[in-house]
Formats: sequence, structure tokens, C-alpha cells
Amino acid sequence: MLAAVAVRQDPRDPLSGLELREVPKPKAPPGWAVVRIVAAALNYHDLWTLRGVGHPADRLPIVLGCDAAGIDEDGNEVVVHPVIGDPAAGGGDETLDPGRALLSERHDGTFAELVCVPRRNLLPKPASLSFEEAACLPVAWLTAYRMLFTQARLRPGDRVLVQGAGGGVATAAIALARGAGAAVYVTSRSEAKRAAALEMGAQVAVECGARLPEKVEVVVETVGEATWEHSLKSLRPGGTVVVAGATSGLNPPADLSRIFYLQQRVLGSTGGTREEFVRLLRFVENAGIRPRIDRVLPLTEIHSGFRAMLDGELTGKVVVHPH
Ligand SMILES: NC(=O)c1ccc[n+]([C@@H]2O[C@H](COP(=O)([O-])OP(=O)(O)OC[C@H]3O[C@@H](n4cnc5c(N)ncnc54)[C@H](OP(=O)(O)O)[C@@H]3O)[C@@H](O)[C@H]2O)c1
Repeated sequence: MLAAVAVRQDPRDPLSGLELREVPKPKAPPGWAVVRIVAAALNYHDLWTLRGVGHPADRLPIVLGCDAAGIDEDGNEVVVHPVIGDPAAGGGDETLDPGRALLSERHDGTFAELVCVPRRNLLPKPASLSFEEAACLPVAWLTAYRMLFTQARLRPGDRVLVQGAGGGVATAAIALARGAGAAVYVTSRSEAKRAAALEMGAQVAVECGARLPEKVEVVVETVGEATWEHSLKSLRPGGTVVVAGATSGLNPPADLSRIFYLQQRVLGSTGGTREEFVRLLRFVENAGIRPRIDRVLPLTEIHSGFRAMLDGELTGKVVVHPH
């Protein structure tokens, strides 16, 4: 079968290590299932793998891709929970299992016709969503869900700042926070993305670093160095910044005096549990929320989707079809 495979790592030219090639079809060991993929979605995580960040070179080649919706061996429409881990090893939370892995870290990923995953990682696709929309949920949307509701404990009426409005996690956070009754403020480098965020339900959209009309209870941070100072300055005393990524750089000044004097809470977040995924799927169905898709491409054009991601052109997700 045709697959997009990470074969080399290069921090400066990550796409040079992504090859379309034929790979053997997977066979399911006991307790696992093979899913025929209808749609898969791109994540920044795939670019980190190709750059050699967080993914040892001895785990190459590997089929890339963490997100998928498709059809299981019994003909059911499914969406794949991408965290492969043991809840018991993580004190009841598989994201805290020291041995956990996201699809494409230790097991072949979803940019292919078929993917093999543990049966417990298959969940029914929400009937209200297309396969393309459902494929956006496992990484970006589940990460945003956990950031807002498990980590920051968002309450209706809270004010939320989402940094970098165009991103996959960011567009999910805007929609979920709005759906939960929060006021949403956003920043983006691009005027077009700020306008799109207002369409998605954000109250206020400003340039990166610009002052907000009021301070917020929660900040959703995936941008890192470029926005960190603004995130801390935008928080009310006692507020929470949840960080799940640092696309623009990992080491901004910590500004410790602000953190302790204003009793701010800084929380890390990664992925989400199966139980959180079940709740997310119910939430999008019940609230009538649909993921924002920037473009849909055939697998053979996956490089152009990643190029748009690297160039910061996207508002929402890039989806690929395996055929
Ligand atoms: N911990 C986890 O479980 C987890 C899960 C998902 C993602 N992540 C991480 O979160 C980050 C975003 O992932 P994604 O898939 O949402 O990526 P994406 O869709 O490509 O979004 C990239 C984001 O970065 C912003 N951005 C990039 N460079 C910037 C700069 N120099 N200044 C300001 N903003 C900048 C963009 O904002 P604008 O273009 O709107 O300004 C946009 O929000 C990645 O680092 C990823 O690895 C972590």
C-alpha cells in the first residue's frame, strides 16, 4: 500500500525526509485491529518527527501521521484515539504512562491506506461529522479539550486567550471554549486569520503582543517564545496558562516574579485520555461544533500541505485522503 514515510531527519529541511513509497499491509496482533483509513489529518507533530525533535533516528523509517477516521474490520465508522498507553501505568491516565506513545512514534501512523491500533483506541465516529471532520479530532481537538477542561478547569463565563488563532489546536480551543460559554480573545500574526477567528466566535482578535480589553482567567498557549510574555501579562491574578506546544521556540524568559506575585498557575498538557476523547466526541455532537478544515488533499500531495503549515498559511486543519 502507498504511505507517507519518514525516512530521514533534517532540522532545516524537514520535508526532504518525507517519502511516498509502497509498504507492506499491516496484520493485527491479538487485541489490535486494522482500520481502512478514509481521512487523515496533518499535525505539527509530524514536522517535529521529520526535524528529529522528540523522535530518535533509530525509529526510522516509520509511516507518519497521528490522526485518522475510517472503517474497521466489521464495517463500523470509527475515529482513532492516537495515544497508545496503559492507563494503569499512568495512575488511571494513559497520557501519564511513562511508556506511552502517540501513533507514528513507535507504531506506524495514519498516512496510508491502513493503520493497525489496539482495539480500545477505536471509537464510533460522530454521525454528525464527515470523515474529514472527524479526522481532525484525535490530536488537535483532544489536546485543546484537555487543556481547557481537565487542566485549566474552564468554567462558563470565564475569559480565555488563545494564542496563534490559525493553528489546529488553536482553532479547536476557540470553538470548544465558545461552546462552553467562555468569552474568547485571540492573537494571530495574520489579519485574515484574525478575521476567521472572529467568524468562529472569538469576541476580540488582536495582533500578537497587543493589549487585550481585559485580563483573562485562562490562556491556551502553543506558540511558545513569540507569545509567552504576552500570555503571562494577559492573565488575571490566580489565572492559568496551559502550555501544550512551543512552535516558535522553547525558552522564553520565565518571568518568575510575575508568576509568584500574581499567583499564576502554569500547567503543561499533552494529548488526552480515551475517556476525554469520548467526552469530546459527545461534546461536538451535542453542541453542533464542526472542525475548521483549511484544505483537503490526496496523499500524493501531502508535501504541499506540510509546506503550507511550515509557511504559516493555515487556518485550521489539512486533511488527506489515502487514494
Ligand atoms: N502537547 C501536545 O499534545 C500537542 C498536541 C498538538 C500540538 N502540539 C504542539 O502545538 C503546536 C501547534 O500545533 P498545531 O498542530 O496546532 O500547529 P499548526 O496548526 O501549524 O499551528 C501553528 C501555530 O503556531 C502559531 N505560530 C507559529 N509560529 C509563530 C510565530 N513565530 N509567532 C506567532 N505565532 C506563531 C500559529 O499562529 P498564527 O499563524 O495564527 O499566528 C499557529 O497557531 C506545535 O508546536 C505542536 O507540536 C502539542
